[in-house]
Amino acid sequence: MTMIENEQALVNPTGCPIAHFQDVNVGSAPAGWHFNNFAVKREEAPVHTGLANEHQYFLITRMADIRKAFQKPEVFSNTAVTPMEPNPQFRWIPEMLDGREHTAWRQLTGPFFTPSAVAEWEPRVRQRFSEVLDAVAAKGSCEFVSEVALLFPNVIFMDLFGLPREDADLFQEWEVDILHKEFVTAEGQQRQMDAMVAVMGYFSGLIQQRRAESASGNDMLTQALNWKIDGKAIPDQDLLDFCLLMFMAGLDTVAAQLTYSLWHLATHDADRRRIIAEPAIIPSAIEEFLRYYSFVTPGRKVMTDTEVAGCPIKAGQMVYLPIASANRDPREFADADQVILNRQDNRHIAFGAGPHRCLGSNLARQELRVAMEMWHERIPNYRLVAGQDLKEHGGQIGMNSLLLEWDV
Ligand code: HEM
Repeated sequence: MTMIENEQALVNPTGCPIAHFQDVNVGSAPAGWHFNNFAVKREEAPVHTGLANEHQYFLITRMADIRKAFQKPEVFSNTAVTPMEPNPQFRWIPEMLDGREHTAWRQLTGPFFTPSAVAEWEPRVRQRFSEVLDAVAAKGSCEFVSEVALLFPNVIFMDLFGLPREDADLFQEWEVDILHKEFVTAEGQQRQMDAMVAVMGYFSGLIQQRRAESASGNDMLTQALNWKIDGKAIPDQDLLDFCLLMFMAGLDTVAAQLTYSLWHLATHDADRRRIIAEPAIIPSAIEEFLRYYSFVTPGRKVMTDTEVAGCPIKAGQMVYLPIASANRDPREFADADQVILNRQDNRHIAFGAGPHRCLGSNLARQELRVAMEMWHERIPNYRLVAGQDLKEHGGQIGMNSLLLEWDV
């Protein structure tokens, strides 16, 4: 079928603008492109429709509608979370669970991420970031994404799960294939699948080994082996689906956030100087970077016929809810298109909203704060290496690389 015929197949009674998924979510674009493109779409209309992998889906662009969808799980289900796959062959836990089952998993996992549990981690998080810094500071330059931003949350995750530090490189490769590559192409989707299978294989081996050793550590994976839901032990497949989700949720997110923040500071001298002169502003600056550079782009599957901003959507169809678009909505934030490091009343939804709001937000905030403080204490004056072609990828939005340099 040609694209025109496909478009005629779209059911579009309210005449929403057309925005195909591969056109708003591209494999490679100039850094910042996705944010600017969502801004155009948001001002054009609250709802767009188009095709995602031959399925009709709806792009929702404004904060009020996106937040409402997150908060109505009985209509907007998590059983499918990307518009390309309304009937996925995988089930990330807890992200792709609804209802009671989801609540049970949140109760089991919640205690690892309370503010007090996370506060106990801080010395180790500082130690890990200082190791990462030691490896780059004296060089006078680095490729920030691979040498700092991905590596840091990676080793924290490995500590959380009790995994050997020497497997960090392997993890980083899988992570790039699952989340970064151009999975809008068939080849990219295949690579993504292969990497997910590899991650599952890794965790499967670990689960068997720890069961065989009757391991008794305090790490999350060892503890999870003894969790029960409704009095029953958790099947190994569910444990694997949980490990895969934790792997994806904890690593790339902090990395993307740190990279956009450093890109911003390397290109906005007044903001960088302010961070150095007033380090107490860092927590507020982090909230503003979370708002301004929000890269998580979830989808939901509609369970009963509904409407969004007057546009009818049928049961079984997918909605796309880019937080990047919500968090720069001028209907919600004054000077939404400006970064204001001490913004007041910053009610962004970078961590989502409703029952699936980010489980790891306390840990994420701590990792970001530690990294911003320690980086600027050690390397306050840095700049972009001239002549680089800065690119970002869609999927979960993120920069591919960022070359920074400083005087040593
Ligand atoms: C800057 C860093 C981070 C951001 C912006 C972020 C953002 C998000 C968002 C928006 C969601 C909701 C997705 C949806 O509604 O479909 C989410 C869910 C989740 N996040 Fe994060 N996240 C970050 C870091 C982390 C970290 C460090 C961890 C754990 C180590 C983590 C664990 C999770 C988990 C387990 C879920 C699924 C929760 C559920 O389904 O109930 N996240 N995150």
